[in-house]
Amino acid sequence: MALDSDSLLEDSREEDLSTSSSGYPQSTGRVTTTDRPTRMMKEMNYSTSSWRMSQNVQPLSLWVTLTCQISAGSFILQRRGSQGGPWSVQRTISFINWMVTAKVWVLKKHFEGFSKTSDFDLKKIELPKLKDGELLLESVFLSVDPYMRAYSRRDMKEGDIMIGTKVARIIESKNPAFTVGAFVVANHGWRTHFISNGQDLHLLPPSWPESLPRSLALGTVGMSALTAYFGLLEVCKMKPGETVLVNAAAGAVGSVVAQLAKIGGCKVVGCAGSDDKVAYLKKLGFDEAFNYKTVTSLDEALRKASPDGYYCFFDNVGGEFASIAINQMKKYGRIAICGAVSLYNDTVPQKGPYIQVPMIFKELHMEGFMVSRWNNRWEEGVKALLKWVVEGKLKYHEQVMEGFENMPMAFIGMLKRENLGKAVVKV
Ligand SMILES: NC(=O)c1ccc[n+]([C@@H]2O[C@H](COP(=O)([O-])OP(=O)(O)OC[C@H]3O[C@@H](n4cnc5c(N)ncnc54)[C@H](OP(=O)(O)O)[C@@H]3O)[C@@H](O)[C@H]2O)c1
Repeated sequence: MALDSDSLLEDSREEDLSTSSSGYPQSTGRVTTTDRPTRMMKEMNYSTSSWRMSQNVQPLSLWVTLTCQISAGSFILQRRGSQGGPWSVQRTISFINWMVTAKVWVLKKHFEGFSKTSDFDLKKIELPKLKDGELLLESVFLSVDPYMRAYSRRDMKEGDIMIGTKVARIIESKNPAFTVGAFVVANHGWRTHFISNGQDLHLLPPSWPESLPRSLALGTVGMSALTAYFGLLEVCKMKPGETVLVNAAAGAVGSVVAQLAKIGGCKVVGCAGSDDKVAYLKKLGFDEAFNYKTVTSLDEALRKASPDGYYCFFDNVGGEFASIAINQMKKYGRIAICGAVSLYNDTVPQKGPYIQVPMIFKELHMEGFMVSRWNNRWEEGVKALLKWVVEGKLKYHEQVMEGFENMPMAFIGMLKRENLGKAVVKV
Protein backbone atom coordinates (compact mmCIF):
# COMPACT_ATOMS: atom_id res chain seq x y z
CA MET A 1 0.00 0.00 0.00
CA ALA A 2 1.07 3.60 -0.43
CA LEU A 3 1.25 6.00 2.49
CA ASP A 4 0.47 9.62 1.79
CA SER A 5 3.75 11.53 1.59
CA ASP A 6 3.09 14.71 -0.36
CA SER A 7 3.96 18.27 0.50
CA LEU A 8 6.24 19.25 3.34
CA LEU A 9 4.82 21.55 5.98
CA GLU A 10 6.80 24.24 7.74
CA ASP A 11 6.96 23.66 11.47
CA SER A 12 9.40 24.24 14.22
CA ARG A 13 10.23 22.04 17.13
CA GLU A 14 12.79 22.32 19.84
CA GLU A 15 14.23 19.76 22.18
CA ASP A 16 15.20 19.81 25.83
CA LEU A 17 18.17 17.88 27.14
CA SER A 18 18.01 16.68 30.73
CA THR A 19 19.86 13.88 32.45
CA SER A 20 18.36 10.47 33.16
CA SER A 21 19.32 8.13 35.97
CA SER A 22 21.28 6.03 33.46
CA GLY A 23 23.49 9.03 32.70
CA TYR A 24 21.90 9.71 29.33
CA PRO A 25 20.77 13.27 28.71
CA GLN A 26 17.19 12.75 27.56
CA SER A 27 15.54 14.62 24.75
CA THR A 28 11.84 15.09 25.21
CA GLY A 29 10.58 17.24 22.39
CA ARG A 30 12.55 20.51 22.73
CA VAL A 31 16.08 20.69 21.50
CA THR A 32 18.67 23.41 21.68
CA THR A 33 20.44 23.17 18.38
CA THR A 34 24.01 24.35 18.72
CA ASP A 35 24.97 22.92 15.37
CA ARG A 36 23.46 25.46 13.04
CA PRO A 37 25.52 26.57 10.06
CA THR A 38 25.25 30.27 10.99
CA ARG A 39 26.84 29.66 14.31
CA MET A 40 29.29 27.22 12.86
CA MET A 41 30.53 29.80 10.37
CA LYS A 42 31.23 32.23 13.18
CA GLU A 43 32.84 29.92 15.63
CA MET A 44 34.58 26.65 15.06
CA ASN A 45 35.95 25.04 18.13
CA TYR A 46 37.70 21.76 17.65
CA SER A 47 38.03 20.85 21.27
CA THR A 48 38.64 17.19 20.45
CA SER A 49 41.52 17.73 18.08
CA SER A 50 44.99 19.10 18.60
CA TRP A 51 44.16 22.55 17.31
CA ARG A 52 41.60 25.21 17.81
CA MET A 53 40.41 27.94 15.50
CA SER A 54 38.00 30.76 16.02
CA GLN A 55 36.95 33.55 13.74
CA ASN A 56 34.75 36.55 13.90
CA VAL A 57 33.36 37.75 10.56
CA GLN A 58 32.35 41.42 10.23
CA PRO A 59 30.86 43.17 7.19
CA LEU A 60 33.76 45.44 6.23
CA SER A 61 36.70 44.04 8.00
CA LEU A 62 37.55 40.50 8.70
CA TRP A 63 39.23 39.19 11.77
CA VAL A 64 40.52 35.74 11.67
CA THR A 65 42.29 34.32 14.62
CA LEU A 66 43.88 30.98 14.33
CA THR A 67 45.27 29.23 17.28
CA CYS A 68 47.10 26.10 16.32
CA GLN A 69 48.27 23.94 19.13
CA ILE A 70 50.78 21.45 17.96
CA SER A 71 52.34 18.94 20.26
CA ALA A 72 55.52 21.02 20.46
CA GLY A 73 53.71 24.24 21.37
CA SER A 74 51.37 26.75 19.79
CA PHE A 75 51.35 29.77 17.49
CA ILE A 76 48.84 32.44 16.57
CA LEU A 77 48.14 33.73 13.10
CA GLN A 78 46.01 36.85 12.96
CA ARG A 79 44.78 38.71 9.90
CA ARG A 80 42.69 41.81 9.74
CA GLY A 81 41.65 43.27 6.44
CA SER A 82 39.25 44.01 3.71
CA GLN A 83 41.99 44.11 1.09
CA GLY A 84 41.89 41.39 -1.49
CA GLY A 85 38.48 40.24 -0.27
CA PRO A 86 37.74 38.44 2.97
CA TRP A 87 39.19 35.05 3.66
CA SER A 88 36.64 32.37 3.32
CA VAL A 89 36.31 29.68 5.91
CA GLN A 90 37.11 27.20 3.18
CA ARG A 91 40.39 28.83 2.28
CA THR A 92 41.32 29.15 5.89
CA ILE A 93 40.68 25.50 6.59
CA SER A 94 42.52 24.56 3.43
CA PHE A 95 45.54 26.29 4.88
CA ILE A 96 45.51 24.17 8.00
CA ASN A 97 44.03 21.01 6.58
CA TRP A 98 47.25 19.07 6.90
CA MET A 99 46.99 19.36 10.64
CA VAL A 100 43.59 17.76 11.12
CA THR A 101 43.78 14.86 13.50
CA ALA A 102 40.77 12.53 13.69
CA LYS A 103 39.89 10.53 16.75
CA VAL A 104 38.64 7.03 15.97
CA TRP A 105 37.35 4.10 18.01
CA VAL A 106 38.71 0.73 16.93
CA LEU A 107 37.58 -2.78 17.78
CA LYS A 108 40.45 -3.90 19.99
CA LYS A 109 39.04 -7.34 20.71
CA HIS A 110 36.10 -9.21 19.21
CA PHE A 111 33.10 -9.16 21.55
CA GLU A 112 32.46 -12.26 23.63
CA GLY A 113 28.91 -12.09 24.97
CA PHE A 114 28.12 -8.52 26.05
CA SER A 115 30.48 -5.85 24.73
CA LYS A 116 32.83 -4.28 27.30
CA THR A 117 34.61 -0.91 27.24
CA SER A 118 37.93 -2.81 27.22
CA ASP A 119 36.98 -4.21 23.78
CA PHE A 120 37.52 -0.74 22.28
CA ASP A 121 40.55 1.51 21.79
CA LEU A 122 40.55 5.26 21.15
CA LYS A 123 43.19 6.24 18.59
CA LYS A 124 44.27 9.31 16.64
CA ILE A 125 44.82 9.46 12.91
CA GLU A 126 46.34 12.39 11.06
CA LEU A 127 44.36 13.07 7.90
CA PRO A 128 46.12 13.82 4.61
CA LYS A 129 45.57 16.98 2.60
CA LEU A 130 42.46 16.88 0.40
CA LYS A 131 42.78 15.89 -3.25
CA ASP A 132 40.55 17.28 -5.96
CA GLY A 133 37.03 15.84 -5.67
CA GLU A 134 37.34 15.17 -1.94
CA LEU A 135 35.67 16.60 1.16
CA LEU A 136 36.69 16.95 4.77
CA LEU A 137 33.87 16.27 7.21
CA GLU A 138 33.39 16.62 10.93
CA SER A 139 31.00 14.29 12.78
CA VAL A 140 28.21 15.99 14.70
CA PHE A 141 26.02 13.04 15.78
CA LEU A 142 26.92 9.35 15.66
CA SER A 143 24.52 6.44 15.77
CA VAL A 144 24.83 3.36 17.98
CA ASP A 145 22.79 0.39 16.73
CA PRO A 146 22.30 -3.31 17.50
CA TYR A 147 23.54 -4.28 14.02
CA MET A 148 27.05 -3.19 15.00
CA ARG A 149 27.11 -6.05 17.50
CA ALA A 150 25.85 -8.53 14.91
CA TYR A 151 28.06 -7.33 12.04
CA SER A 152 31.29 -6.94 14.01
CA ARG A 153 32.05 -10.67 13.98
CA ARG A 154 31.06 -11.11 10.33
CA ASP A 155 32.55 -7.98 8.74
CA MET A 156 35.35 -6.75 11.00
CA LYS A 157 38.73 -7.85 12.23
CA GLU A 158 40.42 -6.69 15.41
CA GLY A 159 42.05 -3.29 14.87
CA ASP A 160 39.37 -2.10 12.42
CA ILE A 161 37.55 1.18 13.01
CA MET A 162 34.05 0.53 14.42
CA ILE A 163 31.37 0.57 11.74
CA GLY A 164 28.51 3.07 11.89
CA THR A 165 26.59 6.00 10.53
CA LYS A 166 26.76 9.65 11.46
CA VAL A 167 25.51 13.12 10.67
CA ALA A 168 28.50 15.18 9.61
CA ARG A 169 29.19 18.74 8.54
CA ILE A 170 31.34 19.54 5.53
CA ILE A 171 34.21 21.71 6.70
CA GLU A 172 36.26 21.74 3.50
CA SER A 173 35.28 20.87 -0.04
CA LYS A 174 37.27 20.27 -3.19
CA ASN A 175 34.19 18.76 -4.79
CA PRO A 176 31.88 21.22 -6.60
CA ALA A 177 28.81 19.10 -5.77
CA PHE A 178 29.20 19.78 -2.02
CA THR A 179 29.39 23.12 -0.25
CA VAL A 180 31.05 23.89 3.06
CA GLY A 181 28.52 24.02 5.90
CA ALA A 182 26.15 21.43 4.42
CA PHE A 183 25.12 18.43 6.53
CA VAL A 184 25.20 14.87 5.28
CA VAL A 185 24.57 11.34 6.51
CA ALA A 186 27.72 9.28 6.10
CA ASN A 187 28.67 5.71 6.78
CA HIS A 188 32.31 6.08 7.81
CA GLY A 189 32.35 4.54 11.27
CA TRP A 190 33.27 5.92 14.67
CA ARG A 191 35.47 8.91 13.68
CA THR A 192 35.45 12.59 14.60
CA HIS A 193 36.72 13.66 11.16
CA PHE A 194 37.03 11.89 7.84
CA ILE A 195 37.60 12.39 4.14
CA SER A 196 35.12 11.33 1.47
CA ASN A 197 34.92 11.56 -2.30
CA GLY A 198 31.21 12.38 -1.91
CA GLN A 199 29.90 9.22 -3.55
CA ASP A 200 28.74 7.60 -0.33
CA LEU A 201 27.04 10.64 1.24
CA HIS A 202 23.34 11.49 1.60
CA LEU A 203 22.75 15.23 1.85
CA LEU A 204 20.09 16.21 4.37
CA PRO A 205 17.05 17.46 2.44
CA PRO A 206 17.09 21.22 1.80
CA SER A 207 13.59 21.35 3.38
CA TRP A 208 14.97 20.18 6.76
CA PRO A 209 13.57 22.70 9.28
CA GLU A 210 16.24 24.62 11.21
CA SER A 211 14.52 23.79 14.48
CA LEU A 212 14.48 20.03 13.93
CA PRO A 213 17.43 18.17 15.46
CA ARG A 214 19.72 16.90 12.73
CA SER A 215 20.31 13.77 14.80
CA LEU A 216 16.89 12.61 13.55
CA ALA A 217 18.60 11.89 10.23
CA LEU A 218 19.98 8.80 11.99
CA GLY A 219 16.70 7.62 13.51
CA THR A 220 13.18 8.87 12.92
CA VAL A 221 14.11 10.47 9.60
CA GLY A 222 16.98 8.09 8.86
CA MET A 223 18.06 4.49 8.66
CA SER A 224 15.99 3.20 11.62
CA ALA A 225 12.78 4.71 10.29
CA LEU A 226 13.52 3.72 6.70
CA THR A 227 13.83 0.14 7.99
CA ALA A 228 10.33 0.47 9.45
CA TYR A 229 9.00 2.16 6.31
CA PHE A 230 10.26 -0.36 3.74
CA GLY A 231 9.77 -3.35 6.03
CA LEU A 232 6.11 -2.49 6.54
CA LEU A 233 5.32 -1.45 2.98
CA GLU A 234 7.42 -3.90 0.98
CA VAL A 235 7.83 -6.94 3.22
CA CYS A 236 4.75 -6.96 5.48
CA LYS A 237 2.69 -5.36 2.72
CA MET A 238 0.32 -4.05 5.38
CA LYS A 239 -3.23 -3.07 4.42
CA PRO A 240 -5.66 -0.79 6.25
CA GLY A 241 -7.70 -2.63 8.86
CA GLU A 242 -5.05 -5.30 9.52
CA THR A 243 -3.46 -5.97 12.90
CA VAL A 244 0.31 -5.49 13.13
CA LEU A 245 2.48 -6.93 15.91
CA VAL A 246 5.89 -5.36 16.68
CA ASN A 247 8.45 -6.19 19.38
CA ALA A 248 11.30 -4.05 20.77
CA ALA A 249 8.49 -1.57 20.15
CA ALA A 250 9.91 1.33 22.17
CA GLY A 251 13.16 1.24 20.19
CA ALA A 252 14.33 3.22 17.19
CA VAL A 253 12.77 0.93 14.58
CA GLY A 254 9.82 -0.45 16.58
CA SER A 255 8.41 2.93 17.64
CA VAL A 256 8.32 4.03 14.00
CA VAL A 257 6.82 0.73 12.80
CA ALA A 258 3.87 1.26 15.12
CA GLN A 259 3.27 4.87 14.16
CA LEU A 260 3.51 4.18 10.43
CA ALA A 261 1.11 1.26 10.83
CA LYS A 262 -1.35 3.61 12.57
CA ILE A 263 -0.91 6.18 9.78
CA GLY A 264 -1.64 3.33 7.35
CA GLY A 265 -4.94 2.52 9.10
CA CYS A 266 -3.86 -0.64 10.98
CA LYS A 267 -4.41 -1.78 14.55
CA VAL A 268 -1.09 -2.03 16.40
CA VAL A 269 0.03 -4.30 19.22
CA GLY A 270 3.47 -3.74 20.74
CA CYS A 271 5.67 -5.26 23.42
CA ALA A 272 8.55 -3.76 25.34
CA GLY A 273 10.73 -4.76 28.26
CA SER A 274 9.80 -2.25 30.99
CA ASP A 275 6.69 -0.54 32.34
CA ASP A 276 8.14 2.88 31.47
CA LYS A 277 8.57 1.77 27.87
CA VAL A 278 5.01 0.43 27.79
CA ALA A 279 3.71 3.78 29.10
CA TYR A 280 5.58 5.44 26.23
CA LEU A 281 3.98 3.05 23.71
CA LYS A 282 0.54 4.01 24.99
CA LYS A 283 1.42 7.68 24.56
CA LEU A 284 2.40 6.93 20.97
CA GLY A 285 -1.08 5.57 20.29
CA PHE A 286 -0.53 1.79 20.29
CA ASP A 287 -3.91 0.02 20.49
CA GLU A 288 -2.47 -2.59 22.83
CA ALA A 289 0.89 -2.65 24.60
CA PHE A 290 2.36 -4.84 27.32
CA ASN A 291 5.58 -5.66 29.13
CA TYR A 292 6.64 -9.04 27.78
CA LYS A 293 8.89 -9.58 30.79
CA THR A 294 6.15 -9.39 33.40
CA VAL A 295 3.27 -11.24 31.68
CA THR A 296 2.75 -14.77 32.99
CA SER A 297 2.35 -16.15 29.48
CA LEU A 298 3.47 -14.39 26.31
CA ASP A 299 1.18 -16.65 24.28
CA GLU A 300 -1.86 -15.62 26.33
CA ALA A 301 -0.91 -11.93 26.33
CA LEU A 302 -0.64 -11.95 22.53
CA ARG A 303 -3.97 -13.75 22.20
CA LYS A 304 -5.66 -11.30 24.59
CA ALA A 305 -4.27 -8.29 22.71
CA SER A 306 -5.64 -9.58 19.39
CA PRO A 307 -8.03 -12.55 19.74
CA ASP A 308 -8.32 -12.78 15.92
CA GLY A 309 -4.56 -13.10 15.48
CA TYR A 310 -2.07 -11.05 13.47
CA TYR A 311 -1.84 -10.35 9.75
CA CYS A 312 1.62 -8.79 10.05
CA PHE A 313 4.47 -9.40 12.47
CA PHE A 314 7.44 -7.01 12.36
CA ASP A 315 10.09 -8.99 14.23
CA ASN A 316 13.03 -7.11 15.74
CA VAL A 317 13.87 -9.68 18.38
CA GLY A 318 13.74 -13.26 16.99
CA GLY A 319 14.45 -16.26 19.24
CA GLU A 320 11.88 -17.38 21.77
CA PHE A 321 9.57 -14.39 21.28
CA ALA A 322 9.26 -15.08 17.56
CA SER A 323 8.69 -18.79 17.98
CA ILE A 324 5.75 -18.06 20.32
CA ALA A 325 4.30 -15.21 18.26
CA ILE A 326 4.26 -17.27 15.08
CA ASN A 327 1.48 -19.41 16.53
CA GLN A 328 -0.72 -16.32 16.77
CA MET A 329 -0.44 -15.42 13.09
CA LYS A 330 -3.52 -15.47 10.87
CA LYS A 331 -3.59 -17.76 7.86
CA TYR A 332 -1.43 -16.27 5.02
CA GLY A 333 0.09 -13.83 7.54
CA ARG A 334 3.31 -11.99 6.66
CA ILE A 335 6.36 -11.85 8.90
CA ALA A 336 9.16 -9.33 8.29
CA ILE A 337 12.39 -10.55 9.88
CA CYS A 338 14.06 -7.25 10.60
CA GLY A 339 16.37 -8.17 13.49
CA ALA A 340 17.23 -10.86 15.98
CA VAL A 341 18.54 -8.79 18.87
CA SER A 342 17.80 -11.56 21.39
CA LEU A 343 20.46 -13.69 19.66
CA TYR A 344 23.26 -11.19 19.00
CA ASN A 345 25.11 -11.67 22.29
CA ASP A 346 24.87 -15.47 22.34
CA THR A 347 28.11 -17.38 22.49
CA VAL A 348 26.26 -20.70 22.09
CA PRO A 349 23.44 -20.73 19.47
CA GLN A 350 19.93 -21.10 20.98
CA LYS A 351 17.80 -24.13 20.09
CA GLY A 352 14.10 -24.39 18.99
CA PRO A 353 11.13 -24.62 19.29
CA TYR A 354 11.16 -24.81 15.53
CA ILE A 355 8.83 -22.86 13.28
CA GLN A 356 8.20 -25.12 10.30
CA VAL A 357 4.90 -26.64 11.44
CA PRO A 358 3.02 -23.35 12.06
CA MET A 359 4.60 -21.96 8.87
CA ILE A 360 3.07 -24.82 6.88
CA PHE A 361 -0.37 -25.00 8.49
CA LYS A 362 -0.89 -21.22 8.46
CA GLU A 363 0.75 -20.86 5.03
CA LEU A 364 2.81 -17.94 6.27
CA HIS A 365 5.16 -15.72 4.31
CA MET A 366 8.38 -14.97 6.20
CA GLU A 367 11.07 -12.74 4.69
CA GLY A 368 14.33 -11.43 6.05
CA PHE A 369 15.44 -8.05 4.74
CA MET A 370 18.11 -5.38 4.97
CA VAL A 371 17.12 -1.76 4.56
CA SER A 372 19.96 -1.27 2.07
CA ARG A 373 17.82 -3.16 -0.48
CA TRP A 374 15.96 0.14 -1.00
CA ASN A 375 18.97 2.48 -1.17
CA ASN A 376 17.62 3.70 -4.53
CA ARG A 377 14.43 4.86 -2.73
CA TRP A 378 16.20 6.58 0.19
CA GLU A 379 15.00 10.06 -0.82
CA GLU A 380 11.38 8.92 -1.14
CA GLY A 381 11.46 7.45 2.37
CA VAL A 382 13.21 10.44 3.96
CA LYS A 383 10.76 12.86 2.32
CA ALA A 384 7.74 10.92 3.64
CA LEU A 385 9.18 10.57 7.15
CA LEU A 386 10.19 14.23 7.37
CA LYS A 387 6.71 15.26 6.33
CA TRP A 388 5.09 13.15 9.06
CA VAL A 389 7.52 14.46 11.68
CA VAL A 390 6.86 18.12 10.86
CA GLU A 391 3.11 17.43 10.80
CA GLY A 392 3.40 15.92 14.27
CA LYS A 393 2.07 12.55 13.06
CA LEU A 394 5.37 10.81 13.68
CA LYS A 395 6.74 11.42 17.17
CA TYR A 396 10.29 10.78 18.23
CA HIS A 397 12.36 10.29 21.31
CA GLU A 398 16.13 10.27 21.38
CA GLN A 399 18.58 9.10 23.98
CA VAL A 400 21.49 11.47 23.52
CA MET A 401 24.85 10.84 25.14
CA GLU A 402 27.39 13.65 24.91
CA GLY A 403 31.03 13.20 23.93
CA PHE A 404 32.82 11.12 21.32
CA GLU A 405 34.80 9.55 24.18
CA ASN A 406 31.54 7.96 25.36
CA MET A 407 30.79 6.00 22.17
CA PRO A 408 31.45 2.58 23.77
CA MET A 409 29.32 3.50 26.82
CA ALA A 410 26.43 4.56 24.59
CA PHE A 411 26.74 1.38 22.53
CA ILE A 412 26.81 -0.86 25.60
CA GLY A 413 23.90 1.06 27.17
CA MET A 414 21.84 0.52 24.01
CA LEU A 415 22.61 -3.22 24.07
CA LYS A 416 21.62 -3.28 27.75
CA ARG A 417 18.21 -1.91 26.67
CA GLU A 418 18.61 1.48 28.39
CA ASN A 419 17.37 3.47 25.41
CA LEU A 420 13.92 4.73 24.64
CA GLY A 421 13.76 5.58 20.95
CA LYS A 422 16.99 6.21 19.08
CA ALA A 423 20.35 6.11 20.86
CA VAL A 424 22.83 8.69 19.50
CA VAL A 425 26.05 10.36 20.57
CA LYS A 426 26.57 14.09 20.20
CA VAL A 427 30.22 14.86 19.57
N1 LIG B 1 17.21 -5.36 8.75
C1 LIG B 1 17.68 -4.14 8.79
O1 LIG B 1 18.05 -3.53 7.77
C2 LIG B 1 17.76 -3.47 10.13
C3 LIG B 1 18.03 -2.08 10.23
C4 LIG B 1 18.03 -1.49 11.51
C5 LIG B 1 17.81 -2.28 12.62
N2 LIG B 1 17.57 -3.62 12.48
C6 LIG B 1 17.28 -4.47 13.64
O2 LIG B 1 16.09 -4.00 14.24
C7 LIG B 1 16.11 -4.32 15.62
C8 LIG B 1 15.80 -3.06 16.42
O3 LIG B 1 16.85 -2.14 16.20
P1 LIG B 1 16.79 -0.69 16.86
O4 LIG B 1 17.84 0.14 16.23
O5 LIG B 1 15.40 -0.21 16.86
O6 LIG B 1 17.25 -1.00 18.36
P2 LIG B 1 16.50 -0.53 19.67
O7 LIG B 1 15.15 -1.12 19.65
O8 LIG B 1 16.59 0.94 19.76
O9 LIG B 1 17.32 -1.16 20.85
C9 LIG B 1 17.34 -2.52 21.08
C10 LIG B 1 16.08 -2.99 21.89
O10 LIG B 1 15.93 -4.38 21.65
C11 LIG B 1 15.43 -5.00 22.81
N3 LIG B 1 16.36 -6.06 23.21
C12 LIG B 1 17.67 -5.95 23.44
N4 LIG B 1 18.18 -7.14 23.81
C13 LIG B 1 17.16 -8.00 23.80
C14 LIG B 1 17.05 -9.37 24.10
N5 LIG B 1 18.11 -10.11 24.47
N6 LIG B 1 15.84 -9.94 24.01
C15 LIG B 1 14.77 -9.22 23.63
N7 LIG B 1 14.82 -7.91 23.33
C16 LIG B 1 16.00 -7.31 23.43
C17 LIG B 1 15.39 -3.95 23.91
O11 LIG B 1 14.04 -3.50 24.02
P3 LIG B 1 13.14 -3.98 25.25
O12 LIG B 1 13.68 -3.30 26.48
O13 LIG B 1 11.79 -3.54 24.87
O14 LIG B 1 13.32 -5.48 25.34
C18 LIG B 1 16.29 -2.85 23.38
O15 LIG B 1 15.94 -1.58 23.85
C19 LIG B 1 17.47 -4.92 15.91
O16 LIG B 1 17.36 -6.32 15.91
C20 LIG B 1 18.31 -4.47 14.74
O17 LIG B 1 19.39 -5.33 14.48
C21 LIG B 1 17.55 -4.21 11.26
